[in-house]
Amino acid sequence: MRNLVLDYFQSTQSSYKNCKVLRKALTAIYLFDFLDRLKNESFPDDWFEIMKNDMAGLDNFSSLIENRFDIAGDGSDWDDNEQELPVDLRTGAVYFNLWKNFNKEEYYQQTLQLLEQRFTRNQLDVTGFKSGLDAGCGGGRYTLALKKSGIHKMTGVDISPDSVSFATKMNHFPEDEVIFKQASVLELPFADKSFDFVFSNGVLHHTTDINQGLRELNRVLQPGGQGWLYLYGGKETLFWDIVDFCRAILSDVPQSYMQILMKIMGYPPGRIFHRADFWYVPINERYFAAEVDEMLKDTGFTDSRRLTRGSDHDWDEIIYSNPSIDPYIYGEGEMRFWLQKAL
Ligand SMILES: C[S@@+](CC[C@H](N)C(=O)[O-])C[C@H]1O[C@@H](n2cnc3c(N)ncnc32)[C@H](O)[C@@H]1O
Repeated sequence: MRNLVLDYFQSTQSSYKNCKVLRKALTAIYLFDFLDRLKNESFPDDWFEIMKNDMAGLDNFSSLIENRFDIAGDGSDWDDNEQELPVDLRTGAVYFNLWKNFNKEEYYQQTLQLLEQRFTRNQLDVTGFKSGLDAGCGGGRYTLALKKSGIHKMTGVDISPDSVSFATKMNHFPEDEVIFKQASVLELPFADKSFDFVFSNGVLHHTTDINQGLRELNRVLQPGGQGWLYLYGGKETLFWDIVDFCRAILSDVPQSYMQILMKIMGYPPGRIFHRADFWYVPINERYFAAEVDEMLKDTGFTDSRRLTRGSDHDWDEIIYSNPSIDPYIYGEGEMRFWLQKAL
């Protein structure tokens, strides 16, 4: 089945080589609509036919909005400035362009609920920790949620100076309880054993050297310290095949163009964030559980364990509730690990 899908993408991609930016944009949007539909309904037996029909309908769909949103064929008017930056800063800029739309307190409240659901279902408790590091904190939503969950002092670092300023503005705690700094997770500006808890959520798979990131987390963690690691899993699944296809056809379609187009089309901010994230972040690795296990052992996290539960919409929780689901949909699930550094 998987080969059939890949062949289909391959043939579609070649016919898009000379197509206009708008058609590429709509193809990506439409494929993600298809994925969303699969999540909301049960997975249909004839999904391949559905996808083909969706793609065939693109011509009509495209003509509907073409006159509302015209663009030069090559996207040159929309060049995003970040293209000139080194890769880690470019990653930071891609995310800041997304975070800056999420400055409402309610969004931070939702993050706290997600975190608590994941902790409760996996029987985890962070209340005893004195000093936590959120490595790759973005807008600081988890840094603040971890503080509210009971960690005495939290430090958040991110490669993007804009994200750090944004997170600092969203922080209502005094600086000796929550602080944000600009730094790379590959070169943390902290002494060995500075923290008793480290947290890195969805960051290291976007860096140039995941093992270096894990070594740094291990170095700044005290012996006996614990932590949380989230990496992309679900390797070789329908979702990632579609993501890779979209990344290929969107390689000359600017991020700002896609964000504006989806806004005009009425997509809510959360969905625009989610899609632009997968389409535009420069480095986007994903892992099998055995690969993560190996890396954790090699970098000193000898007693870590994979978490099997998640919040309601996490892949792990969906697999947990439907163990017989087609493995091509969610594969092994996401990769959330509870880290432990030996004493
Ligand atoms: C998917 S976001 C996750 C943010 C946050 N952990 C969360 O879950 O809301 C990835 C974040 O990692 C940051 N990042 C990427 N590479 C980094 C690096 N080398 N050092 C520090 N931060 C980095 C990005 O700027 C971005 O804010």
